[in-house]
Order: sequence, then C-alpha cells, then structure tokens
Amino acid sequence: MTALPVPSQLIVSPRAATLDDVPAMVQLMGPYIATGDLLPRTAADLERDIANYRVATDQHGKVIGMGGLKPYSSGLAEVIALAVAPRAQGQGVGLGVVERLLDRAAELGFADVFALTRVPGFFHRLGFTTVEKSRFPLKVWFDCARCPRRHSCDEIAVHLTDVASRRASK
Ligand SMILES: CC(C)(COP(=O)(O)OP(=O)(O)OC[C@H]1O[C@@H](n2cnc3c(N)ncnc32)[C@H](O)[C@@H]1OP(=O)(O)O)[C@@H](O)C(=O)NCCC(=O)NCCS
Repeated sequence: MTALPVPSQLIVSPRAATLDDVPAMVQLMGPYIATGDLLPRTAADLERDIANYRVATDQHGKVIGMGGLKPYSSGLAEVIALAVAPRAQGQGVGLGVVERLLDRAAELGFADVFALTRVPGFFHRLGFTTVEKSRFPLKVWFDCARCPRRHSCDEIAVHLTDVASRRASK
C-alpha cells in the first residue's frame, strides 16, 4: 500500500535525534542506500554519532526526514545521510533539516560545511556553491573508496563558507 502524503501543516520542526530514533532512521535511509544516493551506515554508526544528527517528524512522531554532520579536521564538516521520505518531499523538510545541521556546525565551530551530492540545486537554495571535488581529499580517500559508484561517480561537491556568521545573521 502506498503511504499517503504528509500535509505540510502536520510536519514538525526538525529536532536533535535520539537513540530511540535510530531504527526509523535506518529504515528511512534504506531505499536511498539501495539506489546509491546515500552511503551505507549502520545503526551502530548512527548511535555513535547521534549528537550530530537531526530528524524531522510528522505529528505522530514518525521520522520523515533526517541528516547528519560529519566533522573533519580544520573546521570542516560534511552533511551526510540526508534523506526525506518520499511522501514528505517538496515541503521544506530537507531544507529544515540542513538548516538545523548548519546551526549545529556553527555551535561546534565549523567554519566550512560541504556535501557530495546529485542534487546540487537543493544545496544552492541554502547558499552552498559548487566547487571542485578535489578540494576535499579526506572525503575522497576515506568514503569514496567504499562507495559502489566510485568508478563512475556523478556526485557534485557543494560548499558553504563562513557558517557561523551566516547562522548568526539568520
Ligand atoms: C534531496 C532531498 C533531501 C530534498 O528534500 P525535500 O524535503 O524534498 O526538499 P525541500 O522541500 O526542502 O526542497 C526545498 C528546495 O530545494 C529544491 N529541491 C528539492 N529537491 C531538489 C532536487 N532533487 N534538485 C534540485 N532542487 C531540489 C526544491 O525545488 C525547493 O526549492 P524551492 O523552494 O525553490 O522550490 C530529498 O529529495 C531526498 O531525500 N532525496 C533522496 C536522497 C538524497 O538524494 N539525498 C541527498 C544526498 S546529498
């Protein structure tokens, strides 16, 4: 049975994820991992870094959107595991999740945030700009090595600088 769309007025603002959310987060990521849009992450991966994940829910508390922030060195962090349930897409859930992740990045003192994505237009809406992937060597070496699409990568790197002052001006 196809799930009914979630009306926008029934979508709750994104919040910090908790360990109780992990099973639903794993379920939400599943189809996007299968298509190669997201890298595989286990429940243990999510649990270990739960403080850096944000989730959006419907009025019943069901997780309909999620995303995480992965710290790198030198003030740089990556948006990871960004997913919105098909029935809730196109209603600002993804934008809301990334906004909360940028708040978290500012809180932790990361000046720069990047993502590797097939939906650069979505990130451009948030002020990210497209840059050369070669600017992020750590990412390329560690994560790309385990990506099933590593030999035919079509992801685009997007980058947001000066995150803290941007968030302060919101
Ligand atoms: C990409 C994704 C997270 C967007 O979430 P969403 O809740 O549907 O997006 P929003 O409703 O917040 O989108 C807001 C804006 O981004 C734009 N946008 C959304 N998806 C887009 C896409 N695929 N390409 C270009 N722009 C997009 C929308 O047009 C909208 O702009 P507008 O307000 O000017 O019309 C969601 O489609 C998804 O889960 N996709 C599958 C997994 C994936 O690709 N994750 C990203 C990995 S980096």
